[in-house]
Amino acid sequence: MPHLLHLDSSADPRSSASRAVTAAFVAGWRERGSAFTVTSRDLQADPPPHLPDAALHWSPGLRTAQEVVDPADEARQQTYLDELLAADVLLLGAPMYNWSLPSTLKAWIDHVHVLGTTVPFGEFETRPLAGRPAVVVSSRGASYDAGGEQASWDHTVPPLELVLGRSFGMSVSVITLQLTLADRVPAMADLRDRAAAEADAARSYAGELAGRIAA
Ligand SMILES: Cc1cc2nc3c(=O)[nH]c(=O)nc-3n(C[C@H](O)[C@H](O)[C@H](O)COP(=O)(O)O)c2cc1C
Repeated sequence: MPHLLHLDSSADPRSSASRAVTAAFVAGWRERGSAFTVTSRDLQADPPPHLPDAALHWSPGLRTAQEVVDPADEARQQTYLDELLAADVLLLGAPMYNWSLPSTLKAWIDHVHVLGTTVPFGEFETRPLAGRPAVVVSSRGASYDAGGEQASWDHTVPPLELVLGRSFGMSVSVITLQLTLADRVPAMADLRDRAAAEADAARSYAGELAGRIAA
């Protein structure tokens, strides 16, 4: 059965732009029929802790004799890994926070980017997520597509492309929502129409993309 893992990480419970787009993707996925199942995890409501032990970066077979981990920490990590490995498609809501990732999403990544388990290392050549689609929905208050100095300030999408694409071998699509603060920031008032149009376009595109990936 085609299964989607849907993760949100916005800390905005009122008007999150990324949550609206991931919801449109989930709706498009569910439209394909009842066989198209979904697991949703809200990383803001139920945040992973910071990685409690660096030994968890390594699969059990790659740990040193001194790297004995707390069973509760290992069980929590295994829950995240099981959810990810059971998914045919991964959907991530990834707002830009201080040019980077929400700390909840970063903590989840630190739990699932595991050498010898999700990433090949040494004699552990496994890459179980290779070829599976991953969709990143990245919302940001300003815009970073005008070239110049600001073009290099996005540290939200590039690390996700490295982890999901380069390390896991997933096929990554990115939906970017810009100017989400246009309604709030007076100096951005003349950008409001553009922001609204981009938000509409992102929601429609997410629904279409879900249908295409599910097909
Ligand atoms: C803690 C925090 C840090 C932020 N840092 C940035 C930033 O560096 N650049 C930016 O363009 N917007 C920044 N914003 C604005 C958010 O990216 C914007 O509101 C976005 O829409 C958040 O996603 P959401 O609407 O899904 O919650 C920040 C917002 C918060 C709450």
